[in-house]
Amino acid sequence: MVNENKDLIKSMAESLERKNAEDVLKWSVDKYHPKIALSSSFGAEDVVLIEMLSKTIRDPKIFTLDTGRLPQETYNLIDAIREKYGVEVEVYFPQTSAIEDMTRRYGLNLFYKTPDQRVLCCERRKVEPLRRALSKLDAWITGLRREQAPSRTNIGKIELDEAHGGIVKVNPIADWTSKQVWKYIRENSIPYNKLYDRDYSSIGCAPCTRPIQAGENERAGRWWWEDATKECGLHHRFNKNES
Ligand code: ADX
Ligand code: SF4
Repeated sequence: MVNENKDLIKSMAESLERKNAEDVLKWSVDKYHPKIALSSSFGAEDVVLIEMLSKTIRDPKIFTLDTGRLPQETYNLIDAIREKYGVEVEVYFPQTSAIEDMTRRYGLNLFYKTPDQRVLCCERRKVEPLRRALSKLDAWITGLRREQAPSRTNIGKIELDEAHGGIVKVNPIADWTSKQVWKYIRENSIPYNKLYDRDYSSIGCAPCTRPIQAGENERAGRWWWEDATKECGLHHRFNKNES
């Protein structure tokens, strides 16, 4: 599988790089459905992809990782999307015993205490559930964009995801700007997370996300008390490159 995907990416990456988001999405769904799913945090990028997917295929597969610490506005949006598009959203939760053990040892707000405890919380609440979700798939789709962070500038529209068993990772809007994302949302009247109307620009868990100020970069409100990588481990390759 890994070698097969390596060859495929070698042969397809260049031509897919020149294709637009709709064409990349269509290529990936034609090739992998039903073993391909959108990994959605219901951020602005992900609602764009839900709209595109719903125009591409009748029964798109969408999953989300519910860390148990998401803002209420995100839950409201998930229900609004389910209703508007008539799609199922597969929700992955953390393992109960892993969270019970972690909070017993380190408390409920461990992420503010040390970088290691923050990473542990992300590992148990997001990264392990992601591994479970991906173990059933041959490919996954994300809303990653190059412009979002220095750790993302080199992503391809398709990649080999060696951190997840060599499945294929598809990033159809890798080359979009934030302006393009919002233009697409407005033009298509897509429901979006209401926190964006309150100066949030990247949305994750409630205790680890704050609004940004004029001039700050778009991920400045994520884990704002840390000045390190601003990655949680979902997108492994970047962490490896940075270390
Ligand atoms: S994060 O790693 O810092 O949390 P970010 O919020 O920028 O990631 O989102 C980048 C992409 O990762 C999203 O477009 C989505 O594909 C995926 N993602 C992030 N958080 C989740 C989540 N809770 N559930 C499912 N996918 C997610
Ligand atoms: Fe835990 Fe914060 Fe990571 Fe969410 S973003 S999993 S609350 S450390």
